Amino acid sequence: MHITRRAAKVELDLLIVAPECRGRGLGTRAMRALQKVGKPIQLTAVPDERKRATLHRFYMRLGFRRLRTSCCGFTVFHWTPGGAK
Ligand SMILES: CC(C)(COP(=O)(O)OP(=O)(O)OC[C@H]1O[C@@H](n2cnc3c(N)ncnc32)[C@H](O)[C@@H]1OP(=O)(O)O)[C@@H](O)C(=O)NCCC(=O)NCCS
Repeated sequence: MHITRRAAKVELDLLIVAPECRGRGLGTRAMRALQKVGKPIQLTAVPDERKRATLHRFYMRLGFRRLRTSCCGFTVFHWTPGGAK
């Protein structure tokens, strides 16, 4: 995980779990720990066609909402503590 802390939010630049360790809850735990910081989180999901649906489900389940998808497929997700705008 690589993050950039700003005054008002956290930007998640990179989240990767080793392939052999995926599907065991590690990614979810890492994201929940980041959410406990209590600041809004923003990230851009990479446009991998095959994994897009599962990746979006992963973030939606954690309470993120989709802000926008660019013409080349990059999707920006945002999360706010308590679900506030
Ligand atoms: C996305 C990722 C961080 C999730 O970590 P994880 O430890 O496997 O996640 P968890 O075990 O907590 O949750 C599993 C969920 O993630 C989903 N998922 C999303 N992308 C996945 C991927 N590339 N490979 C496997 N599972 C993935 C699984 O489908 C599963 O959801 P489901 O139960 O609804 O099918 C990890 O799969 C990964 O490193 N992927 C490749 C890099 C990547 O796409 N990073 C995000 C860039 S924005």
